[in-house]
Amino acid sequence: MSGSTGRFAGRVAVVAGGASGIGLAILRGLHREGASIVCADINREKLDAVAGSFETRVACTTADVTKEAEVEAAMALAVERFGRLDCAFNVAGASRPGYLVDLSEADWDFTVDLCLKGVFLCTKHAARRMLGFDGGTIVNIASLNAHVPMHAGAAYASAKAGVEMLTRNAALELTPDGIRVNAVLPGLVETPLTRRHFENPAAQAAFLARIPAGRAAQPEDIAGPALFLASDEARYVSGASLLVDGAWAVTGYPDMRPFRGAPGWSPRGA
Ligand SMILES: NC(=O)c1ccc[n+]([C@@H]2O[C@H](COP(=O)([O-])OP(=O)(O)OC[C@H]3O[C@@H](n4cnc5c(N)ncnc54)[C@H](O)[C@@H]3O)[C@@H](O)[C@H]2O)c1
Repeated sequence: MSGSTGRFAGRVAVVAGGASGIGLAILRGLHREGASIVCADINREKLDAVAGSFETRVACTTADVTKEAEVEAAMALAVERFGRLDCAFNVAGASRPGYLVDLSEADWDFTVDLCLKGVFLCTKHAARRMLGFDGGTIVNIASLNAHVPMHAGAAYASAKAGVEMLTRNAALELTPDGIRVNAVLPGLVETPLTRRHFENPAAQAAFLARIPAGRAAQPEDIAGPALFLASDEARYVSGASLLVDGAWAVTGYPDMRPFRGAPGWSPRGA
């Protein structure tokens, strides 16, 4: 992203999952554009690094987005420290991949709780705070996988599709009260989450062959559109899904079986 335009001067934001990757790029962009920010994340070590790199206008707090009381406290902190809440970016996410026939109930719950319930809890408690002021904006980070399935990704893709519908439902309920709610659907982004793909040259080549832009995104490529949706430039945009994928949706996912192996469960072995 380029220099500061001050679009968020005087505004207060919470970035859930703000200590790494896309969330950290959003936090940096918000800070550059004048916002005060609460960075809420489960990873204490990464939070300490964030706290150490901003002298002002950033407050860090440990929060697990799957725990309602912790989410509520993170949103409350924005009001306690900075006086209000204008923007929430619900970014925290990860997955435990597995083929349907192998996927444990615990791994399904981990992925769906983090990626879908976490966004529900963050949206709920951000909106409650915003209703106490004069509205606000919420940006949920879904995924291209909301539209496109991938091998061993049933839990993740289902949760991300849920985030898209949650966003639309939230827009239905909250837009009349001045709270815009939108989703960003990133394609492949180079972050710690996807490191394993970039460490495997064959996997990387298979992905890049499908991405018309010819490269993976950097976190800043996603932060720019996310900040746009939260800015006044998007004041008439609510309930929208913005694909930020270098046109990858046009071609679909590669066959990931060579990189993830075959399903382990077999009817003959059962
Ligand atoms: N990287 C990609 O290619 C890609 C593509 C599409 C969508 N996404 C989505 O973008 C979002 C950010 O991913 P990223 O690539 O920046 O990953 P990342 O691993 O760099 O960052 C995710 C952050 O979420 C935090 N987090 C994890 N569990 C949490 C919890 N329970 N409570 C609070 N914080 C928690 C992590 O500590 C980390 O700081 C995720 O929702 C991911 O599904 C990523």
